[in-house]
Amino acid sequence: MATTKITVKSNGSIRIEGDFEICDLEGRVFGLGGRTGVSLCRCGHSKDKPFCDGSHKLVGFQSDIVARELPPPAPPAPPVPIKPPVG
Ligand code: FES
Repeated sequence: MATTKITVKSNGSIRIEGDFEICDLEGRVFGLGGRTGVSLCRCGHSKDKPFCDGSHKLVGFQSDIVARELPPPAPPAPPVPIKPPVG
């Protein structure tokens, strides 16, 4: 069983619980103050991104989520042949 649980809430945030870390693009880790669960904004309206501040309720964010199977990933593209220099 996974040690991290991610729950995508309908009309709301993404809840992450368990053993995880959240980093910025440069790999700097957010300090979570000892929390073992946080909610990330999915609506784009939080004033505390990437965390949810409840603004999704004020803006009426709607997105129903039901778990589903994804199709298999596309196969990797074949290598592009390199043309020899002309001349
Ligand atoms: S999902 Fe909660 S503020 Fe965006």
